[in-house]
Amino acid sequence: MTLLTHAEASAYWNERHQRESDLRSGGHMAFDEATNHMFYMRRLALLMDLVGLQSSPVAPLYLLDAGCGKGWFSRELARFGHQVDGIDGSEAALEHGRSLGGGPRYHQSTLSGWRSPWLYDAVLSIDVVFHILDHAEWERSVRNLASLVRLGGRLVISDWNLDEDRAFGNYQMLRSRKRYLTLLAECGLRHDGWRSYEFRRSINGFHAFTRTG
Ligand SMILES: C[S@@+](CC[C@H](N)C(=O)[O-])C[C@H]1O[C@@H](n2cnc3c(N)ncnc32)[C@H](O)[C@@H]1O
Repeated sequence: MTLLTHAEASAYWNERHQRESDLRSGGHMAFDEATNHMFYMRRLALLMDLVGLQSSPVAPLYLLDAGCGKGWFSRELARFGHQVDGIDGSEAALEHGRSLGGGPRYHQSTLSGWRSPWLYDAVLSIDVVFHILDHAEWERSVRNLASLVRLGGRLVISDWNLDEDRAFGNYQMLRSRKRYLTLLAECGLRHDGWRSYEFRRSINGFHAFTRTG
């Protein structure tokens, strides 16, 4: 099957965010709303393990939700007192996020194009980079996210943990564990492991990295 071009993928996401309910638009299309809610909660709990259980409005963590969609994770993380920037390519998704308020600052940007005045304690990219179908753009995106993590900070990226690349349908390209480990080692990040979502039959999970240099 031929993969979508960049323009087709952008149009797909903008249209899907306009058409689908809050959770299905960025979650799993085969799940109903209640199941998607569990899926979101499950991943939020994993993220809390990876980012830490600190909650302090007087000493907030600076977080980037890279590919935030309608901002469910951004809002939940902001509720803990964190300062959250949410970026996404889809203006329709961001408009929806902004209408719900709750603290995050939303910006329309690609992952490769986002420039920030500050580094982040953690950069999170939840079910996004395997939708970047072009390998060169994937690499620019992952490098840019890595460059935004402060020393000692965390990078968390969803993908699977197998040693091969594989396309699913025309809009997903799962990438080998080795690609992440090699690229991010070059960027000064240590791989701290992979946590499976362990939700229904999902093959995905979170790769966690820490900036060490
Ligand atoms: C499966 S949704 C996940 C959204 C959100 N992280 C969530 O879990 O609800 C994928 C999102 O990635 C965004 N996206 C895909 N490629 C992108 C890119 N190169 N730059 C910025 N956003 C992108 C899409 O617009 C879409 O909102």
